[in-house]
Amino acid sequence: MRDIIKFYKNKKILVTGATGFKGAWLCSLLLKMGAKVYGAGFTPNKNKHLFYSLSLNKKIKLKLFDIRNLDKLYKFIKFSKPSIIFHLAAQPLVIESYKKPLFTFDVNARGTLNILEASKSLNYVRSIVLITSDKCYKNIGDYKKKYSEKDILGGLDPYSASKASAELIINSYRDSILKNRKNCGISSARAGNVIGGGDWSPNRLIPDCIKSIMNKSKIKIRNPNSNRPWQFVLEPLKGYLILAKKQYKNPKRYSSSWNFGPEYKSKKSVLEIVKFIINYWGFGSMKIQKSKKFHEDHYLQLDIEKAKKYLKWKPVYDVEKSVHVTIDWYHKVFKNKENSIDVTNDQIDQYISDNY
Ligand SMILES: NC(=O)c1ccc[n+]([C@@H]2O[C@H](COP(=O)([O-])OP(=O)(O)OC[C@H]3O[C@@H](n4cnc5c(N)ncnc54)[C@H](O)[C@@H]3O)[C@@H](O)[C@H]2O)c1
Repeated sequence: MRDIIKFYKNKKILVTGATGFKGAWLCSLLLKMGAKVYGAGFTPNKNKHLFYSLSLNKKIKLKLFDIRNLDKLYKFIKFSKPSIIFHLAAQPLVIESYKKPLFTFDVNARGTLNILEASKSLNYVRSIVLITSDKCYKNIGDYKKKYSEKDILGGLDPYSASKASAELIINSYRDSILKNRKNCGISSARAGNVIGGGDWSPNRLIPDCIKSIMNKSKIKIRNPNSNRPWQFVLEPLKGYLILAKKQYKNPKRYSSSWNFGPEYKSKKSVLEIVKFIINYWGFGSMKIQKSKKFHEDHYLQLDIEKAKKYLKWKPVYDVEKSVHVTIDWYHKVFKNKENSIDVTNDQIDQYISDNY
């Protein structure tokens, strides 16, 4: 971690989707490392409360515009002159994607396309990490399967397919249009299901549980036996930072696609996660309410050996610890009314010290 902190000090970094859940944590982490952060965000944004409660609008240079507007994106990149871009802006929700498929494909695929198109001739951009998803793989419904970067892309629901589309766009640009840009690394990052304080997105397990507990209603579980590669938000963000640094220094070697997820052995089911949450919060109850309206894949786990071997990245929190830290954040901020800036910074400090 010492190397990463040193590297990011005073670097100009552009984060798209800065105003979202992962974006707000990434901006906070980068600011702690002394980076000069430029952020882009827009609507819809289910998580803007976190960004503004952390006063990030006063700490970074923020511009709100639609990522699909190539002209505005180009102007913002020219204005901020970043050496590294993290592209997180997206419509990130599966059930929302069934309701708004055109919009989801448009934002997720065209947004990715625009980042690559806008940066292609800007020589000061040296490293681009484009955030896609663990859901970009063709899910074969096997309980024991761990998807590796070599597995085929797919995605039945529009969100997953939009992220697989983004992957194809990235491959195409890297291997054709940007083939001769020797000084710029380009990678896609496929993180697992990310958990952490301040996420209020609908139909995501942790936010749904917290909302139900705070409203004193039963937690409704759609698929108790399903599992996902749940991981604490700082784990994949650490992966993005390591990846961006490595491909900045050696674009040829590290420009690729990368999985970031928890260790397979710490795999847990939805039911187990909900039991942890109730236990850590101190009260709460659940009921199973299956929904047949929208297809959701039952099992999803990632093979993270490539990132461990080549990036020397590894998760330091298992799934249980990740849930614990996450619930602690909500408990402190919403039950104990502690300051969200202090709670977030304390968790970042703790995570950094756990990585030394
Ligand atoms: N949270 C997870 O579990 C998870 C897992 C895998 C991948 N991801 C990916 O990580 C990224 C961030 O996810 P998140 O959970 O922080 O989502 P989020 O909803 O909290 O944030 C999304 C961000 O994108 C911005 N945005 C949306 N539409 C936009 C548009 N048209 N133009 C510009 N900005 C726009 C929003 O303003 C917000 O800043 C997404 O690409 C998502 O697909 C998330």
